[in-house]
Amino acid sequence: MKIGRITLSDRAHAGIYEDLSGPEIERIVRDHLDSTAEVLSRILPDEPAQIQAALLELCDQAGCDLVITTGGTGPGLRDVTPEATRAILTRELPGFGETMRALSFQKVPTAILSRATAGTRGQSLIINLPGNPRSIAECLPPLVPAIRECLKHLGESSAVQPCQLRSQKNP
Ligand code: MTE
Repeated sequence: MKIGRITLSDRAHAGIYEDLSGPEIERIVRDHLDSTAEVLSRILPDEPAQIQAALLELCDQAGCDLVITTGGTGPGLRDVTPEATRAILTRELPGFGETMRALSFQKVPTAILSRATAGTRGQSLIINLPGNPRSIAECLPPLVPAIRECLKHLGESSAVQPCQLRSQKNP
């Protein structure tokens, strides 16, 4: 499995603080999803054009099965990750964000400040996570069954397409 992780933070990008969130995504992906995954990592400032370019590169050029972002999902004026993600999605999957907020709200009342979303682009699944490393450990593991199922559906969709085309030609 090929996985992209993108840390979105002006300060982590400037080297003002260490990126702990990206490595935390990688640890959880290896523990819960695929221990041998190839992981491509990026650290970017909260700039919509750069975020969209990285998502397009990881999905369309690198062919990542899954791209996970961390940070930039809150109500701050520089928080633009959900908008930048939505701009390049084929289909939005709102259940990922809804579930993260609902589960995390049981632990921290501030969880509802995250506007994280998710969706598909071609055969890639993109998921936003909040920026706090602790929030990644809280949010990501419960999503793994839905991630696996979604990737199965996306993989199958390329296989069924020729049949659909044939049956449309010869109903
Ligand atoms: N979710 C969990 N599980 N744990 C947290 O500590 N922090 C919240 C929220 N979601 C948090 C969480 C806070 S305080 C904010 S502002 C938002 O995520 C957005 O964070 P971000 O802008 O770093 O993405």
